[in-house]
Amino acid sequence: MRVSTNREVRSYPFTEYQRLELDPVYDYIRENAPLCRVRLPYGGEAWLVTRHEDVRTVLVDSRFSRAAGVGRDEPRVTPHVQPRGMLDMDPPDLTRLRKLVAGTFTARRVERLRTRAVTVTTDLIDRMVEHESADLVGDLAVPLPITMICELLGVPVADRPDFTGWAQTFLTGADTEPLLAYMAGLVGQRRERSTDDLLGALVEARDGYGKLTEHELLFLSAGLLAAGFETTANQIGNSVYAMLTHLGGLVPPKLVPSAVEELLRLLPLAATVGTPRWAVEDVTLSGGTVRAGEAVFADRSAANRDPRVFRDPHRLDVTRSPNPHVGLGHGIHYCLGAQLARLELQVALATLSERLPELRLGAAQESLTWRTGGALRGLVALPVAW
Ligand code: HEM
Repeated sequence: MRVSTNREVRSYPFTEYQRLELDPVYDYIRENAPLCRVRLPYGGEAWLVTRHEDVRTVLVDSRFSRAAGVGRDEPRVTPHVQPRGMLDMDPPDLTRLRKLVAGTFTARRVERLRTRAVTVTTDLIDRMVEHESADLVGDLAVPLPITMICELLGVPVADRPDFTGWAQTFLTGADTEPLLAYMAGLVGQRRERSTDDLLGALVEARDGYGKLTEHELLFLSAGLLAAGFETTANQIGNSVYAMLTHLGGLVPPKLVPSAVEELLRLLPLAATVGTPRWAVEDVTLSGGTVRAGEAVFADRSAANRDPRVFRDPHRLDVTRSPNPHVGLGHGIHYCLGAQLARLELQVALATLSERLPELRLGAAQESLTWRTGGALRGLVALPVAW
């Protein structure tokens, strides 16, 4: 039986998001309307779940599908329906595509990139300290993940001024064509002359073995490039900002691995709730039953503050352990780049802490400018001094 508050339909987003804050209304909803009916600006109504257990169920249970949403007028915050490549698939198509790239992103393979990540980070910090102050976003948080994903995929870093804008419109779904056309150019080059980067391997998987369609090839590689730096770049900037403002400084290198997990838990990166899952059968969650054919949003940021799982959930506790956060997703769509993201975050925060242990904000907190209108939360610039 549903509790009466569940019948109330709330307009979503509840309020306009501010910086890295999570609206306290989530605490209320998690307790009083665990299966909350919401009306989105486009595409109608859906359910919203906010409890850790329910969020994990929706993300892992095969009675929830992404493919069932394709071609529908899905509930969403943006006017256009956003094609999401892999995130629009269910097994076996999803498994087929993930298998093609999973080998590149395993913990062991990614670990081999650590030395390179340290070199790139050290060079960037060397350049930063040549001046009295710096912009942590433009000088480190953005170029580090761009360099890493470009080298892995085989995308020329020098093309960065072109593809950064295209990656943003690709991620919001506003316009996917420019990035797809750019990737088509790089794919064409590999058909002339093969390369031993990930893009080369994907072209071979297509041309030599027919393991994916041309559209899948372009979408997958564009998605890896865009997801490969936009996310981590914002998370690095947001993490440094959070440590400087919550803790008054960086954490020592030995605490960096647990701090990275805690920052993935506490800081909402997505501007709004992501992609809905569609129930293909009736499923009972803690707040009631979702009927077959209904859409559900699993709110990871709200789940990451569920007091049933996290003690003192709004506090940044860099020693928190265990930390079963869902900041990198859960289940079959669990972040493919999770190990790479962790590596980059760890290297960036540890190297900064070693080289500039006295790092502090270089401008008043209130004067900082936050990005708006994108899929992710992040700072336009983060002035720092040391
Ligand atoms: C701090 C950095 C990152 C965060 C917080 C993050 C978060 C996430 C989350 C939450 C999901 C699941 C979305 C859902 O279930 O609706 C996801 C999926 C994905 N991520 Fe990441 N990500 C990060 C970095 C990366 C990087 C570096 C790459 C690429 C190398 C990447 C590639 C992907 C891909 C391809 C998917 C889709 C997987 C699928 O649909 O099966 N991500 N990410």
